[in-house]
Amino acid sequence: MKIEDCIADFQIPQYLHYMDNAATSLIPQQVIASMNEYDQQYRANVGRGMHRLTRVATQRYQDAHDSISGFIGGKEGVTVFTKNTTEAINIVAAGLDWQPGDKVVTTIVEHHSNLLPWLRLRQKGIEVTIINPGHDGIFDIETFDKAITANTRLVAVSHVSNVLGTIQPIRKIAALCKERGAYFLVDAAQSVPHFPVNAQQIGCDFLCFSGHKMLGPTGTGVLWMRDTVYAVISPLILGGGTVDDVTTEGYTLTDGYRQFEGGTPNISGAIGLAQAVKYLENFGTDSICRHEQKLTERLLAGLAEINNVTIYGPKSLKDRIDVVSFTIDGIHPHEIAYLLDEKAAILVRSGDHCCIPLMRYLGLENGTVRASLYLYNTLEEIDLLIETIDETARMVQA
Ligand SMILES: Cc1ncc(COP(=O)(O)O)c(C=O)c1O
Repeated sequence: MKIEDCIADFQIPQYLHYMDNAATSLIPQQVIASMNEYDQQYRANVGRGMHRLTRVATQRYQDAHDSISGFIGGKEGVTVFTKNTTEAINIVAAGLDWQPGDKVVTTIVEHHSNLLPWLRLRQKGIEVTIINPGHDGIFDIETFDKAITANTRLVAVSHVSNVLGTIQPIRKIAALCKERGAYFLVDAAQSVPHFPVNAQQIGCDFLCFSGHKMLGPTGTGVLWMRDTVYAVISPLILGGGTVDDVTTEGYTLTDGYRQFEGGTPNISGAIGLAQAVKYLENFGTDSICRHEQKLTERLLAGLAEINNVTIYGPKSLKDRIDVVSFTIDGIHPHEIAYLLDEKAAILVRSGDHCCIPLMRYLGLENGTVRASLYLYNTLEEIDLLIETIDETARMVQA
């Protein structure tokens, strides 16, 4: 099937131009059907019984873990289902046995979800170093080289910025971390949905991402941990499903992902997420990425032609994905987003994108407008976006 034909699987793109995918993507009918099938035909709790429904549900829930770990080249690690990227990062921040004198290195580009959990560690006496990127939000590896010192316990970096679309040099950062004995956490919320990501090849210790940004249901996310590392993380939540044995004196945690998924999990969400991965694999993340690059190229070229418009982030396609932030002189980003919806049914996001420190760093008090694309967006939609922005910019100038 051609990528363009995928639109038939989604309802919203039939009547709206949805370009807010960095926040949450749309969901194809195959994913909805897989969740309905669970609820209607084999709904039962998982891992807790012998009857026929629980056996089917447990198998599908296990299969979901396997297909997601296969998707990210993470078979040799532990794939934990969480409710989103935020929870995944918090599990690591709360679960590591921090020692006085430990240091965390992170960046000013991070989403609040990959910043606040580290900032809070300052209360425990952990040093947190926040480094700044160079031009267009790209980090020079030298900056990491200087910041990652002998006492650095963990480095936390987003693979792709949710504001600038910048792809960071994470393999080089991983090599530095390995050399200096620091753990490396990658916030892959904006990369896993858009291009092939292989946790093993990156060389990171933790990879966090959200199912709802990659055609999956809301309330789904993933924390992948390297198998040699996950034992250092103590689970955030204990209870049903997390233990092998319990006495009145104590308990023994079970192996693998189950110790991090206390209580009844989001079973239909996991099944839906596995279906979303299958859907993405049918097209191939390589092809999806190429499709998105065409859209980005057209959008960047079109915006560059409009007076009064400033584009943020790298111009070169090799350094970025299809998350495009811009402003128009003399008009508030929220007003632009409102007008795009009113005039042309184009849905984009505006504001600080949960990156207040980055906005301050860029001197953008009101934030930006952000168009973020996905496989169901088309070149015709990009042309409509450019045309409507052009009209809006002219209206301000007049
Ligand atoms: C780079 C990045 N990290 C983390 C998050 C948080 O994701 P969630 O809200 O699914 O936890 C987002 C959401 O936009 C993001 O873009």
